[in-house]
Formats: sequence, structure tokens, C-alpha cells
Amino acid sequence: MTATMTWLARPRPMGGLVERALERAIALTYGVAYDRVVRGFAPYQALLDDIVDVLARAGRGRPLRVLDVACGTGTVARRLARAGHTVTGLDLIADLVARARRQPSAGVTFVHADVTTGTGFAAGTFDACVSLHTLNWHPRPLALLDECRRLLGPRGHALIACYTRPAALRSTFGAVRAINGFGAAVSALRWLAPTAIFEACRHYDARYPDVPALHDELAAAGFDIIESRPVFLAGVSRLVWARLSDNPESDSLL
Ligand SMILES: C[S@@+](CC[C@H](N)C(=O)[O-])C[C@H]1O[C@@H](n2cnc3c(N)ncnc32)[C@H](O)[C@@H]1O
Repeated sequence: MTATMTWLARPRPMGGLVERALERAIALTYGVAYDRVVRGFAPYQALLDDIVDVLARAGRGRPLRVLDVACGTGTVARRLARAGHTVTGLDLIADLVARARRQPSAGVTFVHADVTTGTGFAAGTFDACVSLHTLNWHPRPLALLDECRRLLGPRGHALIACYTRPAALRSTFGAVRAINGFGAAVSALRWLAPTAIFEACRHYDARYPDVPALHDELAAAGFDIIESRPVFLAGVSRLVWARLSDNPESDSLL
């Protein structure tokens, strides 16, 4: 489900009415499709539960001010709010933000902004930044991470989930079957098939940093890794919990 968003996030060289209408239609379609795919999809819900658990450890169970960077339709933001955090979801695509706002949840607000060119929040506004499946294709990953760093308070943490290899249909199906069995592999098609369709329809520029490259990227942006492990569909993604480097005395926010 990443390819369309990459395409949508590109600058519009012509900026014509037809192009804008097409982008809007794709954003709306993507939003509907994405919400249908993830609703009740066990591997995705397990990933969200995992993120909730890591945040609980980071904050020692206290509620945090969390920024969900590139929140899409807001699934992560709502889940974190249900866990008791105060969450701001931020996304570049206005139609996705509008869709997110149509599914209100206590403790969440959604903001339309570009994380790489200015979010409008004061430095140190958040205790934690969370970003799910965005860093691996974003054209300016360091700009995204720089803004996360600026927005975090002095003891702030980042949770980044990033693909380290493509969620290719055949290889991921095989990997899930080998680890979790045939039934789980068939279930995984719910994610893998739409991803394959989007990737077949759109040119996109995803990159798949290996683990050392991903860690180097976070280090270059000023973060120290606390925990890093494979997650989601036979480990196609990597969940990294990191903290600001100038914060050596504690691995917890509180
Ligand atoms: C693959 S989607 C992930 C959505 C969400 N994190 C999730 O996993 O459900 C990537 C998201 O990044 C957003 N995005 C891309 N560039 C962005 C930017 N510069 N600032 C904010 N959001 C951006 C896209 O609009 C899209 O919603």
C-alpha cells in the first residue's frame, strides 16, 4: 500500500485540473481500500499492539504527547489514543486527513501539513514521534527525521517502522507460509495483493535500507537505537525504537 502514496506525494509539474482530479480520486480510493484492508487484519493489528507496548515501555505507562508522522487515514493515531496517549496525526494529503477526521476518536487531532517543510509546531511539542511505513520510500527521509528531532522534547523517543525489503507477493507469501503456515500466508494476501496492484499501476521510488543503513540514517539524524527487530509479515518491516542522542542518562521518557 505504499506506491500510490509516493506517487501522490510528488510535486505536480503541470498542476492541471485533470491531474489534480486524478490525484484526488486515487487518494480517496486509497483511503477506502486501506481502511478495508487493515480493519481486522491480524498482522497489522499485532503491529499496532506492538507499537503500543513499546510506547508504554518508553513512557513507563504514563500517557504521552505523540505525533503520528504521515498518519494516512489515522489508524495508528486512533489506536495510540485508545491506549491513553494524546495524539496528533499529521499527513500531507488533504483527502486522507479529511477521511481521518471523519473517524473521530477521543484524544486525537489530525493536521494537514508537510513534515519536511514545516509542521508549525513549536520545538519540543511532543514526547514521542511514531512513523509507520513511510521512511522507506519518502524522498527526503533525513528531512522527515530532522523535523521529528526538532519536535521532540529533550527526553523524546521515536518509533519508526520501515520496510527493509519489498512486500513482494510471491516471496512474502512464501516467507509467511514457512514461518506461520499456509493459512497465514493466504490471509497475508489481503495486504500483498493490493500492494502488488498499486505497484503495478504506479512508478515509485521506494528504497529498502538494510538494517545497518536504517540505523545509520537514524544516527545521522541524531538518534540512538534502543531496540530494533523485524516485524510484520515474516519480518518484511523493521520496528526501531530510538531516542535523542543528547539524552544519554535514561532510556525512558520519565
Ligand atoms: C504508506 S502511507 C502510511 C500511512 C500510515 N502511516 C499507515 O501506516 O497507516 C504514507 C503516508 O505518508 C504521507 N506523506 C508523504 N509525504 C509526506 C510529508 N512530506 N508530510 C506528511 N505526510 C506525508 C502520505 O500522504 C501517506 O499518507
